[in-house]
Amino acid sequence: MKSAKIENGINGEIKIPGDKSISHRSIIIPSISKGICEITNILKSEDVLHTLNAFKLMGVKIKEIEDRIIIYGNGITSLKKPNDKIYLGNSGTSARLLTGLLASQNFNSILTGDRSLSSRPMKRIADPLSLMNAKIQTSDGKMPIKIFGKNLKNSKITVDIASAQIKSGLILAALNTKGKTTIIEKNITRNHTEIMLESFGANIEIQKIYNENFIEIVGKKEIIPQNIQVPSDLSSSAFFIVAALINKNSNITLKNININPTRSGVLIALNKMGANINITNKRILNNENVADINVQSSELNGCELDKDIAKLMIDEYPIMSIAAAFAKSPSIFRGLSELRVKESDRLNLIATNLKNCGCNCKIENDDLFISPITKKEIFLPNIKTNFDHRIAMAFLVMGSRLEEIKIDNSDSIKTSFPKFVDEFNSAGGRIY
Ligand code: S3P
Repeated sequence: MKSAKIENGINGEIKIPGDKSISHRSIIIPSISKGICEITNILKSEDVLHTLNAFKLMGVKIKEIEDRIIIYGNGITSLKKPNDKIYLGNSGTSARLLTGLLASQNFNSILTGDRSLSSRPMKRIADPLSLMNAKIQTSDGKMPIKIFGKNLKNSKITVDIASAQIKSGLILAALNTKGKTTIIEKNITRNHTEIMLESFGANIEIQKIYNENFIEIVGKKEIIPQNIQVPSDLSSSAFFIVAALINKNSNITLKNININPTRSGVLIALNKMGANINITNKRILNNENVADINVQSSELNGCELDKDIAKLMIDEYPIMSIAAAFAKSPSIFRGLSELRVKESDRLNLIATNLKNCGCNCKIENDDLFISPITKKEIFLPNIKTNFDHRIAMAFLVMGSRLEEIKIDNSDSIKTSFPKFVDEFNSAGGRIY
């Protein structure tokens, strides 16, 4: 059980760790490149370490020296059959991306995960891969996944679900597939895989036609190593951004944050709510947009977010719901079906926990309606997190305004932000 407190605002510079999505890709892509890559500011959280261990199990030499890691890649066909099942813990990104990558290798492998990952849908990656002739056996659509690696057939595949993990799994499969594979992305999602592969010289072309991306990959070409400096994670920043906004006397700065436009919907949403956020020092780092962010306490208004912005900020709804609970007017967040299949059923968990904190909210179809908390009427102070890191951090931030509440478990935070509590405490808050 953990509670949080902020008495006189949070202040100063908060150290945000490396971006989780980019960190996974900074292990996967260098591991199949031909040469040596040095990676700095990689996120060393449980999820990312599972990806790292997977490649060590497949024979990739990886050295960890202080805050750097060095990966000695040996090319797109160099991975070795692991002599054990590959355990991926809680990490959906590792599971979907590795399923694609391993489908096109010349060995069989088995992916497993923890209880939460084992309850998440995997047919969404196995089905489109089967259009490339991949042979994948899920356990009733879930983990464990058995992958019978083989040469795949290039193909034209439409991805209807708004998921960067599915798209990226397919791109990785296409890299080791002869000829041109085309992926049509109906809903544009985070494009870190495409950006990194372009900088590694992969044969990848992206064309935006109306609201769809046509991603063409010509496979079987070796990719050239690049050093990577991982920018810091906007999704992890969002917990501190909202904590500063809803607590008086706060003024924080977050440096070197990834503001890739396919990821930064939360900044647009908070701007709509009247948040006092200043973005400065915009620059490009390894082809990714980064900037520094200053946040000051603000009186927030409620806002309506339509379903199109959901894919640009899908991980931020737990913390955005807390911002909405302390705004001056109601909010509506639309089109949140994907939230039901995250590390927990986030849509239901957000609504249940908010209601237990005395916040009037309801789900209608896939839309979430939140009315601000008007009076302190806490029905159940124990917040259920279902081992979901983002629910845990979001409700600790809520606890900074409602001291009575406690989250049931904070261990899940290690999957994405191991130093969250230290940063919260050194900025002037207290988690106890
Ligand atoms: C991620 C994609 C998103 C996101 C997840 C990380 C990625 O998942 O929620 O935290 O790194 O590609 P979906 O692809 O399931 O939307």
